[in-house]
Amino acid sequence: MLYHIVTYGCQMNVHESEKIAGTLHGEGYTFCGDIDKADLIVFNTCCIRENAEKRVFGNIGALKKRKMTDAGLKIAVLGCMTQQKDAAARLKKKFPFVDIVLGANNLHLLPYYLKLNDKKNSVKIEEADTYDINISVDTFRTSFPNAWVNIMYGCDNFCSYCIVPYVRGREVSRSPKDILNEVNFLIGEGYKEITLLGQNVNSYRYEDCDFSGLLCELSKIDKKFRLRFMTSNPKDFSDDVIDAMNLSKNICKHIHLPVQSGSDRILKLMNRKYTAKRYIELIEKIYGNIDNALVSTDIMVGFPTETDEDFCETIRLTETCKFSQAFTFIYSPRQNTLAAKMPDIDAEIKKQRIGELIRVQNKITKEISDSFKGKTEEVLIDDYKDGYFMGRTDNGRLVRFKKRESYEVGDFVRIKIFASKSASLAGEII
Ligand code: SAH
Ligand code: SF4
Ligand code: F3S
Repeated sequence: MLYHIVTYGCQMNVHESEKIAGTLHGEGYTFCGDIDKADLIVFNTCCIRENAEKRVFGNIGALKKRKMTDAGLKIAVLGCMTQQKDAAARLKKKFPFVDIVLGANNLHLLPYYLKLNDKKNSVKIEEADTYDINISVDTFRTSFPNAWVNIMYGCDNFCSYCIVPYVRGREVSRSPKDILNEVNFLIGEGYKEITLLGQNVNSYRYEDCDFSGLLCELSKIDKKFRLRFMTSNPKDFSDDVIDAMNLSKNICKHIHLPVQSGSDRILKLMNRKYTAKRYIELIEKIYGNIDNALVSTDIMVGFPTETDEDFCETIRLTETCKFSQAFTFIYSPRQNTLAAKMPDIDAEIKKQRIGELIRVQNKITKEISDSFKGKTEEVLIDDYKDGYFMGRTDNGRLVRFKKRESYEVGDFVRIKIFASKSASLAGEII
């Protein structure tokens, strides 16, 4: 039997698709790159913004015709979208041809429901809070030489715009022992880069072990590998983590530190629990204490009541912080969140603002790329296409360079950078 998975949303969801794939491989299914040939199509969904949901609906809808003539085809919908209030019922009503709908905590049950093959009993959604940290499933990894490792699930922060705490439940951290075992196993298997995942990794805590303690434990592994983590919430980013990054030869000097806005009034309405000044101080501390550190961010425009002045403050903060990269989003109201009750602003203004923000950031992105020219960087080769290798510098810049026969994906190489192109660099192996 052939399966195909369509994944939406964040890195965590991409990793969860690897777990879904793992459960299917255990049942004898084989991955098929061509959706048209698959016997089973799985949608692993996201609902962070309205357009993420629209894409899911569009893609499921497109299968209606095929489902009428292909009786053997099975369709399963999993992930965050199914956790919203009444989402499963709405899905089944809109798309009665969908076979299985499972909540974000129930992916391990997919083989059971496939075997059950009973359309009347094919929906299983549990409260987001019921996540069982001890359920372990095989993982079919797709991102060699990088491997994702969950260190925690859920989120307690309730940023006023965000649906994640509702669909993913409260924070729960895995034990350092389990994490260490998994990382050791992966490194033994030849993985060269481990990315620790959590919505707010800086609030990781298991008994008396906090995030910096976990980083120190993982840094003791005496092998050559890179350690990355995401996402960091500025409100919880501690000096201990900066110290751990400096002491470790494994932890990469790149931090993804979403700021969301440069206006204190908006940050307060967002319930982010820091001010622009505190954020900038944190950035200065990072740049001042960690050599060659780069910081990337997420910024949202058009939050309810955002004025031109609020937006100008976001632009000023963006110029001050010199982000290596910024992922920019237009605010989108989400079911049951506090911000959804606040007055939304004009769609045209939102569009203009995101355009301006992207222009400002593109200039900074290019300046940072230009500053690499002439430097020699260690790069981990993580992809190959049309005669060229791709990889990243320690601090996260993408580099493209000509393939050489004696090298392969997963090798560390020294690269001399000779050109830059917006967010990426060109170089050659030396
Ligand atoms: N846990 C991470 C963010 C996860 S969501 C953190 O706290 O930083 C990824 C990004 O999506 C967020 O940083 C935010 O910029 C954006 N986002 C979240 N909810 C959104 C919404 N309702 N509308 C638009 N963008 C949103
Ligand atoms: Fe959402 Fe805030 Fe949690 Fe990030 S920290 S997932 S933005 S509620
Ligand atoms: Fe991720 Fe989207 Fe869920 S961003 S946690 S897949 S709502």
